[in-house]
Parts: sequence; C-alpha cells; structure tokens
Amino acid sequence: MTDFDVIIRGGTVVTATDTMRADVGIRAGKIVSLSDKLTGAAKTIDASGLLVMPGGIDSHVHLAQPAFGGPAMADGFETGTRSAIAGGTTTVIPFALQPRGTSLRHAVTDYHREADGQSFCDYGFHLIISDPTASVLSQELPALVDDGYTSFKVFMTYDDLVLNDRQLLDVFSCARDCKALVMVHCEGYDAIKFMTERLESAGKTAPYYHALSRPESVEREATHRAISHAELTDVPIMVVHVSGREPMEQIRWAQNKGLKIYAETCPQYVALTADDLKGLNMDESGGKYICSPPPRDEQSWDAIWSGIQTGVFQTFSSDHCPFYYEGSEGKLNPKARTSFRWVPNGIPGVETRLQILYSKGVVEGRISVNEFVALTSTNHAKMYGLYPQKGSIGPGFDADIVLWDPSRREVISQSLMHHGADYTPYEGMAVVGWPVMTLLRGKVVAEDGRITGEKGDGQFLKRSLSPFAA
Ligand code: URP
Ligand code: ZN
Ligand code: ZN
Ligand code: ZN
Repeated sequence: MTDFDVIIRGGTVVTATDTMRADVGIRAGKIVSLSDKLTGAAKTIDASGLLVMPGGIDSHVHLAQPAFGGPAMADGFETGTRSAIAGGTTTVIPFALQPRGTSLRHAVTDYHREADGQSFCDYGFHLIISDPTASVLSQELPALVDDGYTSFKVFMTYDDLVLNDRQLLDVFSCARDCKALVMVHCEGYDAIKFMTERLESAGKTAPYYHALSRPESVEREATHRAISHAELTDVPIMVVHVSGREPMEQIRWAQNKGLKIYAETCPQYVALTADDLKGLNMDESGGKYICSPPPRDEQSWDAIWSGIQTGVFQTFSSDHCPFYYEGSEGKLNPKARTSFRWVPNGIPGVETRLQILYSKGVVEGRISVNEFVALTSTNHAKMYGLYPQKGSIGPGFDADIVLWDPSRREVISQSLMHHGADYTPYEGMAVVGWPVMTLLRGKVVAEDGRITGEKGDGQFLKRSLSPFAA
C-alpha cells in the first residue's frame, strides 16, 4: 500500500506567493502533501532542475464558435484543448455564444455537445450575450449563473454581436443582480465602421488597414464608456484584450478612483505589431495577424508591461481564436482578399501563451516567476470562481501541474504546435522556458510534445460566483 499515486520529486515549486524546494504528493487527482522528502508512490516523476507550477488557466479562448457567414474555426474542443495541454494549460474557459434570436440555454446545450467527452483539459463556459431580451435578462441568465456559468461577455463592436449603450446597461445591471462578472470587448462600433468605409473608398483594403480602421482612440473611447456604464450600474467589469497605453490609462484612472475595474492583456500585445500586418510588401499574408483589437507598436508593448508590473492587469490570456490561413475556408478566402473587413478576426495562441510571458517577462527580468504564476493561473482561478479548486499548488488543490524547464531554448514553429490551425503567428520567435510535462488531476497528459492524455479526460467545471463580481 503506497501513500501516494504520484510523487513529483526534487523540483522547485512555484506559486503566486512562494518559491520552495519541495516534493509534491498526489492522491486521487488532488495534491495532498508538499514536503521536503516524500516516499511511497506508485509513480515517481523526477523534476530536478525543473519548476513545478500550477497548470495554466486560460480564461479567454474561443473554440467551435459559429462563423457568421465566414469560415469555420480551426479548433473545436478536441484540437483546441490538445493544444492547451501541450502548452502547459490545464483549464480553459471558452465561450458559449448566443446567436441573436435564440435562447442562451440552447447555446449552452449546443456548446456542451461540442465539448463534453471531447476535451483534453478541464473547461467552463462564459456566456456571450448578443440578444439581451427581457426573458434572457430576467430568467435565463439568473438560472445559468446558478448552474455555474458565472461570467458573461459583451461586445461593443461586430455586426452580429454589438450591444448598444442601453443594452450594455441592462446586462451590467443584470450581472449585478446575479453576481456575475462581465467581460467587455471595448472597441467602438460606429467609429470602426466609419473608418472602414473611408479606407475602402480610398482603395486601402490590404490587411494592414485593419489596424488603421480601429486605432487606439477607438479602444480608449469604448473603454471609457464601459467604465462609465459600470460606475452607473455599480458593477465590477473585466476589460479584456487591452492592447496599449491609452485604454490601459483609462483603466488605471478608474482603478485609482476606487472603481472595481479589472483588466486582461494577451501575448499579441507584447509580441506583435501592426507592422506584422503589412506581410510581404502589403500582400495578403498580413491577414495571418488580424485580430481585434489589433497589435499596436513597440511603445505599446512597453505600456502593457508597465500595466502588468503595476497591477493594472490581473490576467494574461491568449484570446485563442484560430482560423486556417490557407484554403477557401481560410483567413484568405476569396471574399477576404477583397478587403480586410472580411478577414475573420483572431489568431491561435493557447499553446504559446506561457512561453511568451515566461520568456519576455521572467527571463528578460520584467516580472518575477511568482507574478508569472499569478498572471497565467492563480488570478484566473480567483477571478472566475475556480479557486481554491484550481490555480495553485498546495494540499486540497486539483493536481493540475506543469513541469517547466526554465532554461530550455526553443524557436516557436508550426511544426511544434498541436492546434488545428495551419500556422502560428509567432513563427520564428526564440523563447527561453518550455513546458516539458503537464498533469491534469494527477494524470500525465502531455510529455515533451507528446500527448499522453485522451479526449474525454477534461471535465466541465461548474464555477462558483466570482468573489470579484458585485
Ligand atoms: O480578434 C479577435 N480577438 N477575435 C476573437 C473575438 C474577440 O473579440 O475576442
Ligand atoms: Zn442548436
Ligand atoms: Zn473580444
Ligand atoms: Zn476573444
């Protein structure tokens, strides 16, 4: 009879607050002991020279979302979560999107059909509300929050998703009543439409003009408007995928004023620039990098780092939103070649999030390894009602663990990826630090680029109310 199913021996355990040499004892999928020297396990994993960190939690991931007339996504739950575990992420929170004119409960049922039995890692769902009817607000949302869908996302742009100010206020107010946390996509719809038409009539249709059609001022204005609506309805909000200094300063201003405004940023805002959209001589290949808000410039990277260092941002997520690049169903489908307007927005990144933050953040001396854990795991768990089940290493937590080689040098390339997309926007980027083993509730599910888990290992997470919501 052994005490543990698994012991992780000889590694350096890193949490959001501590770094210590300790063995980790796992039984029945949970961490049960953290101690100097543990013995007596069915399986012992040698972690000498490695960091032992909580598995990544990526709270902003799009999988199997409908295409609204455009191409289908390159990842459903099987390939998207396979990519997650290969990259050291053990929990994702994708979205269940309500198409207009339909019920949210129906959308949730549809997404469960896509996800259940198909996932390599654990998952929950945020609810995208595109049609906040009276019955959605007064009946569906309260019941769904009770069922563990405790966060919403609303959009201030995109034809099929945009809410007007009154609708935003209605959703915010509903979130206050239900104690849900609202994520807000802050870009101004009318300004983008105006700029898009102006650019197109001047013949400026190449991918690069996507960035010019939604400059930082458009994001700043919408961020300020969302904050004002949150203040009016007295509800905390999470501003997602913040791209640069101007929106970040609005958030900092609100936080200094005492408002409960939280914020997320993503790898593309410290690793890509609008110039990447120029592709080769302004040809279509820039379309690979089209996402919204668009990556800005290197000064914006510095601004985002200062926001990370001073606590403006709580979470660093991928906003994984993958499309194929090649082919008639790709980002460069025939319609998309006529204008940036038709290129589906979004890039893959669930598998490269940790390496980019570790390399540019920890290795280049901008953040501590404990801040890295907070930004990639612990804060996501706390913010979205998964703590203390997920997000740290200690007795009682799920044994979701990534073993990290802090000195391994790699060059990111499509050949290393496990996602469904046919490219990575980070191709050729040299990084230091790489996940070498991923455990999901004590089971080794990925090892050195090999998937050892199975689809169906991942479980649905019924999430608690966020302690950061109203
Ligand atoms: O371009 C992006 N980010 N697409 C994903 C949808 C969203 O707004 O998060
Ligand atoms: Zn359906
Ligand atoms: Zn968004
Ligand atoms: Zn997104």
